[in-house]
Amino acid sequence: MSRIETLIASMTLAEKLGQLTMTASSFTVTGPVIAGDSTESIRSGAIGNLLNMVGAGPVRELQRLAVEESRLKIPLLIGLDIIHGHRSLFPVPLAEAGVFDPVLWEATAREAATEGAADGLALTFAPMLDVSRDPRWGRTVEGSGEDSWLAAQMAVAKVRGFQGTDLAAPDALAACAKHFCAYGPVTAGREYASVDISERTLHEVHLPPFAAAVRAGVATVMPAFTDLAGIPMTAHTPLLRDWLRVRCGFDGVIISDYNAIRELLNHGVAADLPQAAALALHAGVDIDMMADGYRHGLPVALERGLVSIEQIDTAVTRVLHLKERLGLFADPYGRCRTLESAATITRRRALARRVGAQSLVLLKNGHDVLPFRKSLRRLAVVGPLAEAAGEMRGPWWAAGVPDNHVSVFTGLRTALPDTTMLYAQGVTIEGNDTEGIAAAVALCDQADGILLCLGEAAVMSGEAASRVNLGLPGQQDALASAVLARARTLRKPCAVVLFCGRPLTVPQLVADSDAVLVAWFPGCEAGHAVADVVLGRVSPSGRTAISWPRFVGQIPLFHSERRSGRPANPADKFTSKYLDSPNEPLFPFGHGLTYGRFRYSNLRLSAPALKVRDTLEVRVDLTNEGRSAARETVFVFTHDVVASVAPPLLQLAGFARLELAPGETGTVSIAVPATQLKILDPDLAPVFEPGVVEILVGPRADRADLLVGAVELQAG
Ligand code: BGC
Repeated sequence: MSRIETLIASMTLAEKLGQLTMTASSFTVTGPVIAGDSTESIRSGAIGNLLNMVGAGPVRELQRLAVEESRLKIPLLIGLDIIHGHRSLFPVPLAEAGVFDPVLWEATAREAATEGAADGLALTFAPMLDVSRDPRWGRTVEGSGEDSWLAAQMAVAKVRGFQGTDLAAPDALAACAKHFCAYGPVTAGREYASVDISERTLHEVHLPPFAAAVRAGVATVMPAFTDLAGIPMTAHTPLLRDWLRVRCGFDGVIISDYNAIRELLNHGVAADLPQAAALALHAGVDIDMMADGYRHGLPVALERGLVSIEQIDTAVTRVLHLKERLGLFADPYGRCRTLESAATITRRRALARRVGAQSLVLLKNGHDVLPFRKSLRRLAVVGPLAEAAGEMRGPWWAAGVPDNHVSVFTGLRTALPDTTMLYAQGVTIEGNDTEGIAAAVALCDQADGILLCLGEAAVMSGEAASRVNLGLPGQQDALASAVLARARTLRKPCAVVLFCGRPLTVPQLVADSDAVLVAWFPGCEAGHAVADVVLGRVSPSGRTAISWPRFVGQIPLFHSERRSGRPANPADKFTSKYLDSPNEPLFPFGHGLTYGRFRYSNLRLSAPALKVRDTLEVRVDLTNEGRSAARETVFVFTHDVVASVAPPLLQLAGFARLELAPGETGTVSIAVPATQLKILDPDLAPVFEPGVVEILVGPRADRADLLVGAVELQAG
């Protein structure tokens, strides 16, 4: 018998249910606190898994209880939400998506895993693969934005990065593809609300990133809190069992979300805890996080005949198998290493700075206000986000502490040792007090450059952070208009830096400003990363992975919307448009300026026709006609001209980056496998439909900026 079979044969029911239970320590709070002291429960085998605990010392002590003082000596599985870094935070995922570099996506996850594992952890609840087209939803910040294909690319890179090549390695973390599935389209962007989308949208948009994560070998999956057309995901047998396990072949561990099994009662699909536990177990959920539904519910469910012991054994087998794959039986303390070397931390922070700078998105740069001249004698850094190191973490900061973060003011002061640095907060992020505005405006008189740092607080995005008003909070608009007006009168260069976990609806601010740079939440090296871009040491290259609406009323807004029977026509009232706003976003998906100026020419496609096994090579020349070296991101979109199902206006099919010196010309080559051009037919079966597909290449999802070619898809 294998170790696992032997163990299962000797386990009591309580010990089995312990292996299916995950409970929180009080290190960080990510949901309602319902945990008590775990010590005795670990000794008795009533708890086999923990979340929210950190530190090699404490982890070692709890592991010791499990492997030395419990009857069966089964090691604990310990997880934490390492979403965008552990102690050293990288940019939030929405920002990092905009770097459009799978190598960097993987590298930051690798570093986060190494750092988390050194702290004794073996599991991270990441990556979040929920596609979000509704920035009212706070969790938009945790994913890669509006595009499903992009989410799939990032899923693969993140799973590889977290898990490395060997899950048993002391620096590997088991990844968790979450939240399965379609959590993004919650009704009206309201957190935890019901979801009701078509089968087609489910299969075209929301499932593919999870399929990609499974293909990349993700070790665990977490169902969403939400229901999908009335079936809560925690109990969704057709999707969890039939689609994920049977169709995709996922044989890893499914971990419920925080208290989600008990919440089946609130959803109204279970009358009591035993029934809720039975529903989740049937669907294939192996570990119950924080609901105590398995421990207290399954014994009764067994008596009632709602579940069988074989089902429980199957779940226990999966959990023990994961612990084995993670090397926890071989060395339960393998991940509890002592402190990492200073060189390692320095290298990691250098990566955070590099990715941070590359994730900044320059929305606008009128009169080439940015970069600021290094010879500025006095620079005013103004606004509630200017000297706010802790906010730079963004939501889900794991073990990142504010002191470990560099504010914008500090970053600029370090970069400009000969410049007199002036600072005024003006207003707080959310407060109503406007008294400080006058002093902030007065500062402009003394400065010869002004950087206005505005935006959301870190906790205004992330979980339980839906907003209906996506403008600047508090009195920041008042601060901005006063400072911008003064700067204009004085003819002083003034740029706005926005910190946010989602696109904000700020059309007036954008109209009134010469330059707007979106920093999102850049992580531990925020101030240095912002200084690198603002002072021109690095040319901005980040792109927005989500459309920026002008008004909340345009939401949901995304580039792959389907064609209408009555496309917008300004001359015809009865076409698809608004009376009071353009249809177009303020900034489309992919938008982001550089300090260079790129001209696209000479689009070449490797073949005029494609069969399903072919790969199309898309080539385009780029010339940097600007005065600065810069890195350009090039996108390939496709558009099916006629298909059996109304096609999206644009569909992302590839991207590449190219760095060019001023005056230099280079060629970008992007491979698009023909299988990627399959569509789901009216019965949702993938088909390669003969016909013409347009290939559109350029810097953003706006047809006006794209070069267009075409290929013919041929059967056979
Ligand atoms: C969140 C998950 C997270 C879990 C554990 C829940 O509230 O929805 O994303 O992994 O807490 O912290």
